[in-house]
Amino acid sequence: MPLSPRITAVAPSSTLAITAKAKALKAQGVDVVNLAGGEPDFETPVHIKAAAVAAIQEGFTKYTPTAGIPDLRAAVAASLTADLGVPYQPSEVVVTNGAKQALYNALQVLCQPGDEVLIPSPYWVSYPEMVTLAGATPVFVATTPADRFRLSVEAVERAVTAKTRVLLLNSPSNPTGSILPKASLLPLADLVERRGLFVISDEIYDRLSYDEPHTSIVSCGPSLRAQTLVVNGVSKAYAMTGWRIGYAAGPQPVIDAMIRLQDHSTSNSSSVSQRAALAALTGDQAPVAAMAAEFTARRDLLVAALRTVPGLSCVPPQGAFYAFCDISASGLASTVFAERLLTERHVAVIPGAGFGWDTHIRLSFCASRAALDEGVRRLRAFLEAL
Ligand SMILES: Cc1ncc(COP(=O)(O)O)c(C=O)c1O
Repeated sequence: MPLSPRITAVAPSSTLAITAKAKALKAQGVDVVNLAGGEPDFETPVHIKAAAVAAIQEGFTKYTPTAGIPDLRAAVAASLTADLGVPYQPSEVVVTNGAKQALYNALQVLCQPGDEVLIPSPYWVSYPEMVTLAGATPVFVATTPADRFRLSVEAVERAVTAKTRVLLLNSPSNPTGSILPKASLLPLADLVERRGLFVISDEIYDRLSYDEPHTSIVSCGPSLRAQTLVVNGVSKAYAMTGWRIGYAAGPQPVIDAMIRLQDHSTSNSSSVSQRAALAALTGDQAPVAAMAAEFTARRDLLVAALRTVPGLSCVPPQGAFYAFCDISASGLASTVFAERLLTERHVAVIPGAGFGWDTHIRLSFCASRAALDEGVRRLRAFLEAL
């Protein structure tokens, strides 16, 4: 059966192979330390689950408006207005099936063949494939460990051409945990205004920003609001990855186009999950602070432990829940390193190749402190035996 050129151009997920193998080993009874996870290892807070149970019991189980229930759109608008200091109306918000659908739909409605989309590298694995699926061309803008993986305005300026349509930003970043502080965002905002670019700002890890408060590019200049789509959701901050609720806020024509696309593809996201997300955004925020505090403690523990491992170096992450480590001293490519580490020492990590960075591996701290300790101990033993 011939498949469409659209899908044959898309690479399979590079993270899947290693996680499938880790699961298979675990099923055989092997004691695997899993540092590959991309989701909080906490339960969804109780009051959020209760809101979903109540929604089911009262029969809130039918289609909703495609763009989301009015209460949730209003809650998202209020939360973004408060967090970013930029006013949003409920009509300027679309609720999606995870932040992933918001990113996908945004690229679909903004790009046409020939357009270029700037993607800072290392990048989240799905960005290039989403850009390709939108018919546009991904253009990578390298960051460096010496700059703590922060995107520099000079590098972006060099990459901009007459075809550049979108700049994708992800702060805090997956996989590096790098954040873009206001001092870095201001010159980028200026460039975006000058060159008439459109920004898709993926802020899914905003509440997991450990050393300083999160800043969005949208709050960095008067015309940025008309040139930016802010993407966020409840997956990471509220430990709700399985509920599939994300959202985007931005200029009305872009939001209306995204809703039109969603009308004819997935329609609304789950009615029950929307009620849960409403409880998340409007209810007690203490669980978010507690999870962020635990992630901060784990980050500190992991960074300190990694510093003691010869042959490994790592820029301390300032947000999200990943440490991106340089393994080039081992002489192994990242996929070989990850494969051997799993087979020989039973530690699962994600190879950097899928993030465009083959000299690194990604360690997640969505794992207990004991698992982090044990994982680093095995990593050290693995490197010593090489
Ligand atoms: C940078 C980034 N953006 C978006 C997403 C997708 O979030 P969601 O689960 O809400 O679709 C992820 C999930 O791993 C991510 O790391």
